Amino acid sequence: MLQGRSILLIVGGGIAAYKSAELVRLISKSGGAVRVLLTKAAREFVTPLTLASLSGEKVYEDLFSLTDETEMGHIELSRSADLVVVAPATADLMAKAANGLANDLASTTLLATDKRVLMAPAMNVRMWLHPATQRNLSTLRRDGTAIVGPNEGDMACGEFGPGRMAEPVEILAAISGLLGGKGIPMPAPAPIPELSGPHGVTASGALTGKHVLITAGPTHEPIDPVRYIANRSSGKQGYALAEAARDAGARVTLVSGPVTLPPPPGVTLVRVETAREMDEAVEAALPADIAIFAAAVADWRTKAEAGQKLKKDGKAIPPLELTENPDILARVSRHPALRPRLVVGFAAETEKVVDHAIAKKARKGCDVIVANDVSQESGIAGGVMGSDRNRVHLIGPEGTETLPEMSKSEVAAALVARFAALFDRLAGK
Ligand code: CTP
Repeated sequence: MLQGRSILLIVGGGIAAYKSAELVRLISKSGGAVRVLLTKAAREFVTPLTLASLSGEKVYEDLFSLTDETEMGHIELSRSADLVVVAPATADLMAKAANGLANDLASTTLLATDKRVLMAPAMNVRMWLHPATQRNLSTLRRDGTAIVGPNEGDMACGEFGPGRMAEPVEILAAISGLLGGKGIPMPAPAPIPELSGPHGVTASGALTGKHVLITAGPTHEPIDPVRYIANRSSGKQGYALAEAARDAGARVTLVSGPVTLPPPPGVTLVRVETAREMDEAVEAALPADIAIFAAAVADWRTKAEAGQKLKKDGKAIPPLELTENPDILARVSRHPALRPRLVVGFAAETEKVVDHAIAKKARKGCDVIVANDVSQESGIAGGVMGSDRNRVHLIGPEGTETLPEMSKSEVAAALVARFAALFDRLAGK
């Protein structure tokens, strides 16, 4: 499962550090190579010798150890793996990473790495729920750190609640998901009520280890080297969905048409221009667990793009001959080998919104359609397209739900929470 992959495991100082030995064993058993970095505090809970024996590699400990620096400097160490895993991620390590502190080997490595980081937090429940830790958690997520757990349960300190480190098998599943493996079934992490917003906003880690593929923005279909056919899509809803899926712990690939939005941190962005390029990029990004088609793909392109700028030379107006673009959503919904478990389409309609969307869902073969009214009569000032607000209807296998008008980020968080729950139901969890 992890054949040919290498992991740098940073073990923080907490009672859960003893589970790191089991994690090293599981990674090795899956074919992955592990290099371990122990913080000073972690040494109180687990010995370097245990971890060196299990990993078959030298264990790294101290930033200022000259032997370490001559064998492998901390910069090289931070880049030597495909993924950096922090387990247990203590409140202290999370705070250091969120704020860019670099005063020991672990924090320096986290600051210097150019690889994705997965953290498995473990701490006392009060420490976990403290606004400072929750602030750090949001910052880390925004920076693209994936989070697995923590789980809810009895704690070593005698209290009960979220704070127990995810089990080594759950961490392994998250590693495998992030490294693009097939992923293995993972129990859903405990939702943290304090993080839930008014519309059941995404539970922490609800999509950890999942690959979510999203299309966004318009497509541009060239007429000649300087002109193109386009539409008014801003890409805002698709980009907000990418951020919400990332915040829920997913590995996100965002295939985007031409927009003026900044790339969302922690998301793999693939920029395309035409519908055919978008179709190819989507195919290349498969397999995915969930695919969300939020792009406003041009239905038609010109039959032949003129090689030179069309000139107004006094003759007849040139005819614009069109041909149909591939329907990406319909194609992926009926993909013979790589259909994602959950396929979501969008329907931008100007009249009979729900009726048209129900028909579109059947025609395209997706599991869910998110419909919105893009007419000027939508009730949203200036119309939905380009606006920061949206009001959507969710048409799924279990009926239709209309969400209230919200910002596009709130709509995205509410949708992602529902997609994560539906994904689990489709998976029979
Ligand atoms: N879509 C797609 N590829 C296309 C056209 C549409 O993937 N060539 C996807 C969109 O991303 C969206 C859904 O299909 O998720 C519906 O798009 P829409 O333009 O509303 O559907 P059409 O099939 O073009 O229907 P209409 O006749 O309303 O234009």
